[in-house]
Amino acid sequence: MTAERNRSRKGFIACLTIAIQLFLWTAAKAEDGYRLWLRYDSVPKAMIEVYRPRVTSIVAPGGSATMEAIRSELINGCAGLLGGSIPAAEKVERDGAIFVGTPKSSPLIAGLKWGRQLSDLGSEGFRIRSLKLGPHAVTVIASDGEIGALYGAFHFLRLIQTLQPIDKLDISQRPRLQRRMLDHWDNLDGSVERGYAGRSLWDWQSLPEKVDPRLREYARANASIGVNGAALNNVNANSRSLSAEYLRKAAAIADVFRPYGVRVYLSARFSAPIELGGLKTADPFDPDVATWWKKKADEIYGFIPDFGGFLVKANSEGQPGPRTYNRNHVDGANMLATAVAPHDGVVVWRAFVYDMKEGYDRAGAAYENLQPFDGKFAPNVLLQVKNGPIDFQPREPFHPLFGGMPKTQLMPELQITQEYLGFSNHLVFLAPMWREFFDSDTYAKGPGSTVTKVVDSSLYKLRLTGIAGVANAGSDRNWCGHHFAQANWYAFGRLAWNPDISSRQIAEEWIRMTFTRDQKAVDAIARVMLESHEALVDYMTPLGLHHIMWGGHHYGPAPWWDMEKRADWNPTYYHRADERGLGFDRTKTGSDSVSQYHPPVRDRFANLATCPEKFLVWFHHVPWDHRMRSGRILWDELALHYQRGVDWVRAARKGWDALAGAIDPERHAEVAKKLEIQERDADHWRDACLLYFQIFSKRPLPEGVEKPQKTLEEYMAKSLAW
Ligand code: GCU
Repeated sequence: MTAERNRSRKGFIACLTIAIQLFLWTAAKAEDGYRLWLRYDSVPKAMIEVYRPRVTSIVAPGGSATMEAIRSELINGCAGLLGGSIPAAEKVERDGAIFVGTPKSSPLIAGLKWGRQLSDLGSEGFRIRSLKLGPHAVTVIASDGEIGALYGAFHFLRLIQTLQPIDKLDISQRPRLQRRMLDHWDNLDGSVERGYAGRSLWDWQSLPEKVDPRLREYARANASIGVNGAALNNVNANSRSLSAEYLRKAAAIADVFRPYGVRVYLSARFSAPIELGGLKTADPFDPDVATWWKKKADEIYGFIPDFGGFLVKANSEGQPGPRTYNRNHVDGANMLATAVAPHDGVVVWRAFVYDMKEGYDRAGAAYENLQPFDGKFAPNVLLQVKNGPIDFQPREPFHPLFGGMPKTQLMPELQITQEYLGFSNHLVFLAPMWREFFDSDTYAKGPGSTVTKVVDSSLYKLRLTGIAGVANAGSDRNWCGHHFAQANWYAFGRLAWNPDISSRQIAEEWIRMTFTRDQKAVDAIARVMLESHEALVDYMTPLGLHHIMWGGHHYGPAPWWDMEKRADWNPTYYHRADERGLGFDRTKTGSDSVSQYHPPVRDRFANLATCPEKFLVWFHHVPWDHRMRSGRILWDELALHYQRGVDWVRAARKGWDALAGAIDPERHAEVAKKLEIQERDADHWRDACLLYFQIFSKRPLPEGVEKPQKTLEEYMAKSLAW
């Protein structure tokens, strides 16, 4: 009886073990997007044979957590890519050793006498060279700092991931921008403002005792693209983030990030001295207030010695700030800057400030508010300016503050999360949009004064540089809600590292690392990615239209929206459609905010005949029958843009379907489903917008534009669901 029971127990355990193994096996194989671009699946056999002799051991001496991270990344990465384990070694004993470190961590690297080159590249830069070390042919990855060595290791892995040659390497790189941050708009209750990928990655409730192992993966992903900072909490900040209780939690996160070179920043609520400190005021000129911040900074650095600094949204959209006390932005920013300066911290002060004045133009507001303070901010303040003058629209001209504040350290703020670009439902690759921004010529110091040169400080030679991206990562299994939204996180990091990289290079790298190395498939996917932004602009906001989204959530169109109490929260404020035409006159006959640009950009934008058509109704109120460069009138052109956007989504769907064999079924099906939503939405955008604008244009739809599926009333009655 007992023997029988034992037997059946054994049988049960055996079954269970098999079931668990099966589960683990499928889980490990699951293509659910969790591994991001760090998948490390085996390269084709022929390439394994090429790479194998050049990767025979990993020699990365040193006991620090970063050196450990380097070893584990290279060992796991190479083993996966080259289909077999690669041993760690203490010394270089054979050809093919990958030798990684800093002159400090390794006497051998010190012996190379690269001191000068490495110090020029800085602690985040790296040098990778194929060379002979004694009798052995090896690859050296060296940096002045361990984080630079880690970046070098990721670069080396990327070469293999993307099937590049590794036999004659001679690479020197350093990041062009210093502070490369993600701004998380995460709230303490776990929700994420404008987040479309699940709840916050930070589980404040269980921190600091329990730290989700996923945070290490997050830091790894950032390190792999050179992102070196994360502001953990929403710019619409809760003072509690700065309480000792929450600082302990933030410190636990910082401990996980540190080996990967990611520094923690916190959004600071300007009125925290009142809410946390019990003071009567937060006036920056009040000595008690300044002392409170100083003590708070000291306390923070006690918890987090490498704390990056404060991110501040002040006097914007109801947030408190220095102006609440009749002080100005400089008074506020510099007071905080003094508090963090002894610790080498910075203050990232946001320029997203727009007051409501009668008859004003919101596109000109940030410039009006901040430009007069050029040269007055403390040396450890960076002014964070959104790429465009309104608010992360699908397309905006560059913000006139770039080129308008030569004595201020400007740090662009890009939005990776797709607040106005279809959330995590629409496939839109943002690198081309950001490229357009970086490549814009401000003419601040004559031709060639591109935004890139302002931002990397080659134009004005300022001390600090940086860039921020509003993060799109959340706790969804695939991190970003849409498999292709991962590409935008990736692109942000790559452009922050080098704002000159082409969109195509970024797309192709990412595809090879994330989806497939099959060249035909790479080409097909890259094409979809590279065209996607223009297409989205076509079906949402062509020819310079902006901010015509449904109020509040910003998903789907609502050009008719006029019920917000602030005029500039209403789409009707922006498009100004009437019987004469469409658009916001920002020239001399209107708000004249175009004059914030330098000539000749100003003149080009201000003249209807020379204004780029993609910005036409951004700068001009244009008659419906205005002749466009195509020879068509504005109304027809507008309608055809909407149709073109829809047609593109349909073609993209077909293209994607054709890739069925080249992509794993799981991700293929998930993307296909999202594309279906995107087509539904593009149809909806076209129909709703054209029906509404038709009230004013009083013209029929031109040939080639499909009839709307519903009535305008129906579109107005219910917002598009996501
Ligand atoms: C947008 C967004 C807000 C955000 C704000 C900001 O307006 O809708 O959610 O708080 O930008 O950047 O501060």
